[in-house]
Amino acid sequence: MPTAMVTGANRGIGFEIAQQLLDRNYEVHATYRHDKGALANLNHPGLVLHRLDVRNDQDVASAMACLGPTLDLLVNNAGVSDGRWSSIAEIDFDIVSTVMEVNAIAPVRVTQHALPRLTNAGGTVLMITSLMGSIADCSSGKSYAYRASKTALNMFTTAMKNELRAKGVSLLLMHPGWVETDMGGPNAPIQADESVNGIMARIEEQTLELTGRFVDYAGQALPW
Ligand SMILES: NC(=O)c1ccc[n+]([C@@H]2O[C@H](COP(=O)([O-])OP(=O)(O)OC[C@H]3O[C@@H](n4cnc5c(N)ncnc54)[C@H](OP(=O)(O)O)[C@@H]3O)[C@@H](O)[C@H]2O)c1
Repeated sequence: MPTAMVTGANRGIGFEIAQQLLDRNYEVHATYRHDKGALANLNHPGLVLHRLDVRNDQDVASAMACLGPTLDLLVNNAGVSDGRWSSIAEIDFDIVSTVMEVNAIAPVRVTQHALPRLTNAGGTVLMITSLMGSIADCSSGKSYAYRASKTALNMFTTAMKNELRAKGVSLLLMHPGWVETDMGGPNAPIQADESVNGIMARIEEQTLELTGRFVDYAGQALPW
């Protein structure tokens, strides 16, 4: 049975990813920060829950210590939006720091902790990024911290690519689409199950040769 870990799995896209991986017979280590949320009612023998704030090194180490020697799939999904400021004058730098820490730095931290097990498995790391991190696509601007955090995540991931490929570990940068969740809001055109159906197909087709690609849930290559 393959093993996966999904961060921020108590709601939204992360919860749907955890569910669909369970349907595909993964053992799923699903993490939540405070509240188990939807995970509390998901009774499945393949599901293991961990309380984990992705910013906390000890939380991450403790969760990893519960795993066996291999991890086939790490999904760095946990993320936060920014203040959606409409002008530079409104930027709150404490929020900027949090957004950068959760969206850009924490996925690298979790990957660092998971690396020995990913290497043992020849595993895959799925980074849930955003088209909003694309410099080429940034015509409307604003969402300063959220955009910058996802751009930084894209570069961290690209910079890791060769080192991890040499260890047999593949990286996938995924834009899930604009999805109806707490973050995506009620006007989003895509439901979480549709997005995650696509994400599952991208995981299944992923190879070491495809490492580092930046695509959306439908497999469309995105501009950097
Ligand atoms: N929805 C969209 O349209 C969209 C588009 C592009 C990219 N994305 C990306 O997709 C991912 C999931 O987003 P979503 O739409 O599902 O958002 P969501 O419904 O707001 O869920 C965010 C998840 O991240 C968790 N989280 C936040 N900070 C955390 C921390 N410090 N430690 C651990 N977990 C933390 C949340 O846990 P709590 O419940 O404890 O807050 C929650 O489980 C994010 O990376 C987001 O940037 C979403």
